[in-house]
Amino acid sequence: MAIEEGKDPVPVTRTRGISVRLLLVFLMFLVLCVLFSFISLSTFRRFSFDSVAGVVKPSLEPCIGESSGLDQWIRPPSNLMHTMSDEELFWRATLVPKIRKYPFDRNPKIAFMFLSKGPLPLAPLWERYFKGHEGRFSIYVHSLPSYNEEFPPTSVFYKKHIPSKVAEWGRMSMCDAERRLLANALLDFSNEWFILLSESCIPIYNFSTTVNYITGSKYSFLGAFDDTGPYGRGRYNESMAPEVNLSDWRKGSQWFEIDRRLAINIVEDTIYHPKFEAFCRPHCYVDEHYFPTMLTIRAPNLLANRSITWVDWSRGGSHPATFGKGDITVEFFKKVRESKTCEYNGRNTTLCFLFARKFAPSSLEPLLQLAPKVLGL
Ligand SMILES: *[C@@H]1O[C@H](CO)[C@@H](O)[C@H](O)[C@H]1NC(C)=O
Ligand SMILES: *[C@@H]1O[C@H](CO)[C@@H](O)[C@H](O)[C@H]1NC(C)=O
Ligand SMILES: *[C@@H]1O[C@H](CO)[C@@H](O)[C@H](O)[C@H]1NC(C)=O
Ligand SMILES: *[C@@H]1O[C@H](CO)[C@@H](O)[C@H](O)[C@H]1NC(C)=O
Ligand SMILES: *[C@@H]1O[C@H](CO)[C@@H](O)[C@H](O)[C@H]1NC(C)=O
Repeated sequence: MAIEEGKDPVPVTRTRGISVRLLLVFLMFLVLCVLFSFISLSTFRRFSFDSVAGVVKPSLEPCIGESSGLDQWIRPPSNLMHTMSDEELFWRATLVPKIRKYPFDRNPKIAFMFLSKGPLPLAPLWERYFKGHEGRFSIYVHSLPSYNEEFPPTSVFYKKHIPSKVAEWGRMSMCDAERRLLANALLDFSNEWFILLSESCIPIYNFSTTVNYITGSKYSFLGAFDDTGPYGRGRYNESMAPEVNLSDWRKGSQWFEIDRRLAINIVEDTIYHPKFEAFCRPHCYVDEHYFPTMLTIRAPNLLANRSITWVDWSRGGSHPATFGKGDITVEFFKKVRESKTCEYNGRNTTLCFLFARKFAPSSLEPLLQLAPKVLGL
């Protein structure tokens, strides 16, 4: 009777028709359940638990559509242009394994992170720098969101742009862009060192020298010094205490090289970020103080307290010198490379800088000409 009523194209009342259909579905479900428990019980009796799992697993795989091995957890993202918000990205980037030893063959890489406004005019020089070292580095580019990348598929910069936002000099948005670069680079488990560069930076040694210097150092290269003058401690605001005290206040250039631990420290920070955002506003230039101060509090023993990016402030003013076509000579490179002595793992050395800024687009031609002789590129 019930079945006939259910088939009826014009049921007397709607609710009744539905409840009868529901009952039918429920009955069929019940029958299936009994059948299934019977089958699984008899299977369970025949195999041990492990072998049941072994039998069931492969049959599920095609439905899920992904591998069940470890590689799904360690494979770097294939598309850097993800749709995660910063909040989601930072959370994802700070998932850290508690076991130190990697259960797979890890090939540690250096992440080169370019913070630029738009194009990378010195890209041809960098292409030469990276040539032949595939698999030892990763590249990430953060530019103004309105800028569309223009690199051919043969370029090392092809599809290396990450989702970006406007970043203003001296403002928290600049530090946020740097954190965004770090967070994206952290998604690749093989990135162990992270270098921040700008579109006006050039390498001043070849790739192998850079790798040996960075991987052999006990410390990360981040400028951090205690400037007691008005442009240093003078920018500290007492409202930042007790999280940030005057004695911890540091200043340094934003162009850093840090290792994975420090990168995670920066991306996970929710203690110092609000303090700097609220109390370090122009004329306190937050990108000169936030990371140096925060890392001096969190991990002072991991810092070399100096930058490996050379810059020339000797011309005075609030901006460093920019070098163009006429400046690029063999003597210029000799001067830059031997401009200073510093400590490397506790020993004095004249090899203090691996990169230099600022270079105008017009310097590209002479740089490419001198590169084989001076840079070995
Ligand atoms: C890199 O430069 C160093 C010294 O500047 C040199 O000894 C080395 O042979 C160069 N490596 C390559 C691969 O060119
Ligand atoms: C510290 O910051 C607060 C809030 O922005 C401001 O009112 C105060 O004047 C600042 N103090 C100093 C010493 O700059
Ligand atoms: C800052 O100073 C206060 C009081 O001396 C202390 O309790 C606090 O731990 C200090 N903060 C840091 C980050 O050292
Ligand atoms: C860097 O400075 C911190 C304190 O600000 C210090 O503890 C650390 O030893 C310094 N690093 C080196 C390599 O001297
Ligand atoms: C490094 O040079 C400084 C002077 O610039 C000197 O005081 C120090 O003793 C030297 N250190 C070593 C390990 O040679």
